[in-house]
Amino acid sequence: MAKVFIGVAWPYANGTIHLGHLAGSLLPPDIFNRYNRMKGNEVMMVSGSDQHGTPITVTAEKEGTTSSVIAEKFHQINKKAIEDMRIEFSLFTKTHTDNHIGTVQEIFKKLLEKDLLYEKETMQYYCPKCSRFLPDRYVEGVCPVCGAENTRSDQCDACGTTFETGDLKDAICVHCRTEPEVRSTKHFFLRLSAFRDRILDYLKDKTYWRSNVETFTSNWLKGGLKDRPITRDMEWGIPVPVDGWEGKVIYVWFEAVIGYLSASKEFSNIIGRPDLWKEFWTDKSVRHYYFLGKDNIPFHSIIWPAILMGYTSLNLPYDIPANEYLMFKGGKLSKSRGGAIDIPSVIERFDPDVVRYYLSINMPDTHDSDFSWEDFQVKVNNELVSALGNFYHRCLSFTKKNFSVIPDKPEGSEFLTVIGEINKAMKEYEGYMENCDFKKSMKVVMDLSRFGNRYFDSKKPWALVKENKELCGEALNASLQIVKALSIMAWPFMPFSSERIWKFLGLTGTPLDHGFAGCTEPLPAGTELPEPVPVYTKVELPKEDVKEDTKKAAEVSISETPSGPFADLKRLDIRVAEITDAKEHPDAEKLFHMKVNVGEERDIVAGLRAFYKKEELIGRKVLLVYNLKPAKLRGIMSQGMLLAADDEALGGNTVVLLKPSKNVPNGTRFSCGLDINGKEIEYKEFQKAVIKVTSVKDAGTAAAVFDGNEMIPLSDGKGCFAVVDRELKDGANVR
Ligand code: MF3
Ligand code: ZN
Repeated sequence: MAKVFIGVAWPYANGTIHLGHLAGSLLPPDIFNRYNRMKGNEVMMVSGSDQHGTPITVTAEKEGTTSSVIAEKFHQINKKAIEDMRIEFSLFTKTHTDNHIGTVQEIFKKLLEKDLLYEKETMQYYCPKCSRFLPDRYVEGVCPVCGAENTRSDQCDACGTTFETGDLKDAICVHCRTEPEVRSTKHFFLRLSAFRDRILDYLKDKTYWRSNVETFTSNWLKGGLKDRPITRDMEWGIPVPVDGWEGKVIYVWFEAVIGYLSASKEFSNIIGRPDLWKEFWTDKSVRHYYFLGKDNIPFHSIIWPAILMGYTSLNLPYDIPANEYLMFKGGKLSKSRGGAIDIPSVIERFDPDVVRYYLSINMPDTHDSDFSWEDFQVKVNNELVSALGNFYHRCLSFTKKNFSVIPDKPEGSEFLTVIGEINKAMKEYEGYMENCDFKKSMKVVMDLSRFGNRYFDSKKPWALVKENKELCGEALNASLQIVKALSIMAWPFMPFSSERIWKFLGLTGTPLDHGFAGCTEPLPAGTELPEPVPVYTKVELPKEDVKEDTKKAAEVSISETPSGPFADLKRLDIRVAEITDAKEHPDAEKLFHMKVNVGEERDIVAGLRAFYKKEELIGRKVLLVYNLKPAKLRGIMSQGMLLAADDEALGGNTVVLLKPSKNVPNGTRFSCGLDINGKEIEYKEFQKAVIKVTSVKDAGTAAAVFDGNEMIPLSDGKGCFAVVDRELKDGANVR
C-alpha cells in the first residue's frame, strides 16, 4: 500500500464555483483519489478557499461589504457545492485560519532568517484619484509581448510573460480608469535567483509532465529566475510578521500555496494523529500530485518548490496534471458570463453523476474543450443512458424478473472469456489512470459496457429462458459479472450511481470495500436481488435552453471581439499551399520542419510526426494561416500554421490535415466570401475563431467557422472547400 498526496488549487472565495472549476481542477483529483483508494492506497487530499488577495477585495468593494464577509460567504457556498458533487477531500479548509496564518508566518520568518527574503524599495502603481497603491489586479492594460488586451499588471495569461511595474502598455486603474502613477514603496522579495540551479535540477527528470505544464514552466524560466516581491500594500491578508510593516500583507500567491502544508497539518490534528502529515511530506516515496488550471502552473512548478526547498526538505510536486479551459462556444467559462453553470444551480437540475460523466468525457486535459447544454444532452442520452445505463438495467431487470436471485455461473471457457475481457479492460484502464488520462479511462469503461451489450444480445436470454433456463441463468450470471466490474470501474467517475448498482446486485457495502479485485470475484450465486430501477434517465432540456445556448454563443463572440462578430473572420487570411519539403526537427521529437509554397516559399514547423510520415507530406496541398505572427518553435521560425482537425474532443487522438477539395493554385485565398484584412494576427487572436469539421452541403466533411451566428464553410467562394484529408468524425476541432 502506497501513500499519495493530492493538492487541489484553492478556488478564490469571491464567487460560486462553476462547471469550469469542476472540469478543470476539482473532478480530476477526485477521480484520481477514488482510483487510488480503490487500489488500496492511502490518500491525503487537501484544498480550501483562497480567501485573501485582490480578487476578494475587488468583489467586496463591488458588493459594498467587507472582504471577510465575502471570503466567508463563498467559502460556505463552495464547500457545500463541492460536497454535493461528492468531491471528497480529506479536508477542504480556508486560508483565513489561525493554523494557516501561523504556518505562513513561520515559513516567512524562516526564509528571512536564511536570507532568502530581503527588503527593497520598489516602484508600484499608485492611483492619484483613489489615493492608494494599486495591487496587480487593479491595473490593466495591453501585454507588451503578445498584445493581449485587458491583461493584469503582473502576468499575461495569454503568453505567460510576467511583468515589472511599468511594463504594461496603456495601464489604467480598474477602479476609476485613471492612468496610474508609478511611486516607490518598500517590499520583501523572495530571492528566487538563488534557487536557479536547484529548480533546474528538480525539473530535469520531469519529462513526464504534460506539455502545457512544461511550456508554461520553461517560458517562466526563459525570462531568468528573477527575485519577486512577496508583500503587498493592502489591509486584507496575512500580516507581515515583522515590526514596522503594519499596513502590508503577504502576497496571496506566496501564502496560498503554503495551504497545502498547513491544511495537511490541520487535517492531521482534526483526526487526532497530529504527526500524520509528516508521513506524507517527509517520506520520499510519497508522490505529490497537484491538480489545477493552466493559469496556476508556474506557482506550482517553480514558486512552491522554491518555498519548500528554502524552508526545509519537504516533498516537492511529483506531477502537476494541469488542465486547459472548458469553453462555452469559444469563450472561457467564467462567473461574469452568467448562465446557470454555477454548481448549486446545476445540481438543482441534474443528477451530479450525469454532470460528472459529461465533464469526464469532455475534460479539457490537453486542450480547451467546448461545453454546451446541447452537447451535454446528446452525450448523456446517446452514450451514458443508452450504453451503460441500458446495459445495467436490462441485465438486472431481466434476471430479477426470471430468476429473482443471482443464477449460477457458467463452468469453463464461457466464463473465462468474459473475465478475460474484464481483465483486458482493467489493464488498459489502469494504465490511463496512472497517467491521469481520465478521459481515456472513462472511454474504456464505456467500451466495456458496449461489449456487455453485445454479449447480452448474442446470448438472446429472452429466447434462451424458454429453451434452456440453466444456460440462460449462466449467461445472465456472466452479464452481471460485467455489471459488477463496471460499477467498480465507474465508481471513481460516478460514485452515486455505481453504489446504487452495487445494491441492485444484492451486495453489501460499496464497491470501495472490495477494490478492483472485485471486478473478477464471482458473484455470490443465490443472493436475492432487489427490484432495480434505471440509474440514469435521459435529460430533456427545455427548448429555450438549447436556443439560449446559441444566443449566448453569439453574445460571447461579440464580447470577445469588440469590433463586432465578423471582425475576426475578416482577419483570418487562409491560403492554399503545397508542402515541398519535410524533415525532422533536430530538437523536438514531435515536430516537422517543412517548406511550403504559397506563391512564395515559407518555413513551417508543425507537430505532425505522430500522424504523418514525411513522405506522405511532401507534395500535399494544405491550408495555411497566412497572416499568423511568425513564432519560433524550438529554435526554428515558423511562418504560419497548417490547418488540421483533431478528434480529441470526441474521444479520439488523431490529427488530420485539411486540404482544398479541388486543385486550385497555391496562394488561393479561402475567405468565405469576406473582405479579408490581411493584417498580421496573434496566435491568441486566431485561437478565438471557432473552426470545426462538420457536414457541409456539396462538400462532405469539411471545415466551417463560427461567425457568432452560424457555421460558415471555409471556401474560396468558388466551390472549393476545406475538406479532411483522412476520414474523421463530425465535430472535430480545427486548429
Ligand atoms: N485561487 C487561485 C485561483 O483560483 C488558485 C490558488 S492555488 C494555491 O486561481 F495553491 F495557490 F492555493
Ligand atoms: Zn483609480
